[in-house]
Amino acid sequence: MRDQIKVALIGAGRIGQEHAKNLASFPNVEVVIVCDPIIAAAERVRPLARAGRVTDKAEEAFAESGIEAVVICTPTDTHAELIEAAARAKKAIFCEKPVALDLPRTHRALQVVRENGVPFQIGFQRRFDSGYAEAKRRLDAGELGRIDQIRAVGRDPAPPPREYLLKSGGLFIDQAIHDFDIARFLGGEIEEVSAWGAVRFDENAAALNDVDTATTLLRFKSGALGVIENSRRAVYGYDIVTEVFGEAGKIVVQAEPKTPLRHYSQKGYQLDHYFFFMDRFHEAFRTELESFFRNLSEGGEFSPGSSDALESLRISAAATKSWKEGHPIKIADVN
Ligand SMILES: NC(=O)c1ccc[n+]([C@@H]2O[C@H](COP(=O)([O-])OP(=O)(O)OC[C@H]3O[C@@H](n4cnc5c(N)ncnc54)[C@H](O)[C@@H]3O)[C@@H](O)[C@H]2O)c1
Repeated sequence: MRDQIKVALIGAGRIGQEHAKNLASFPNVEVVIVCDPIIAAAERVRPLARAGRVTDKAEEAFAESGIEAVVICTPTDTHAELIEAAARAKKAIFCEKPVALDLPRTHRALQVVRENGVPFQIGFQRRFDSGYAEAKRRLDAGELGRIDQIRAVGRDPAPPPREYLLKSGGLFIDQAIHDFDIARFLGGEIEEVSAWGAVRFDENAAALNDVDTATTLLRFKSGALGVIENSRRAVYGYDIVTEVFGEAGKIVVQAEPKTPLRHYSQKGYQLDHYFFFMDRFHEAFRTELESFFRNLSEGGEFSPGSSDALESLRISAAATKSWKEGHPIKIADVN
């Protein structure tokens, strides 16, 4: 059996904490160092990751002896630089989505990954959810025949804070990218998009020239059609549904109630609900990292990888452009 894989965890915020707990539970992984410019944040995450030490400088983490892999969980506008530094230091890279805020920066970072020949996986955890993974298996087995339509809803319970929005790239690049990735994963490549966006409730989105509500129409290369609805607010909690409709039926991926329980009263009955991405995709966050480390120790294809990172961002950039310019955009025209 090979030695434990030594890891640096970069970024100790919301998603960094989730990954820290999963990393600490893997028997073949050792988090050596946690890095965050806010040292108190790194200190808070250190026990979750069972890490030896903390630093406020990523270079120090990359230079730490024996580190084989990095898990990047920092704000989106820092990913590209950290990916390049990690690749040059010959580390295997798991990075949260997306690679960068625009395509030119994404191309450059992924070029450095290629030049250094290091493994790379992007954090599209939904692909590892048991529902989405099974949908993919059935579609690949041809159980739906030809796919004609895809419909997806992606709504968060509440808008993120202004600080987060500022560095996020906007709704299409930050939030809708998950639905675009899943549309590609299940339905194949996309030819053209047409997007509308609106500010319906979030003053921060308005001030930052972002939107809080969007609908994107998709035309797939196969000729299938799709529609994606996103909102930054759903008072009842996280709302993620994907429907694939084809000649032999349809597949719907939608979470059952969180607890297998109905509470009956004079008001009728109540079910509970996954309120946020952390609990809805709790297992998927674990499984995506398991896959990354399994491939690292046993060899295998790192997926979703560079091309998935690039193509999902291309769709997000096309949707952003379509919303801003008010006409459909061909994906191939966005570089
Ligand atoms: N896969 C998902 O579903 C999912 C969900 C949430 C966030 N994300 C992605 O994860 C990333 C982080 O989001 P978050 O919600 O955890 O943000 P966050 O603001 O809660 O945490 C980011 C942390 O990174 C730290 N940081 C900033 N610059 C750094 C640097 N150069 N080196 C090390 N640490 C640095 C910050 O101090 C902060 O503690 C974003 O890119 C976001 O798109 C993905």
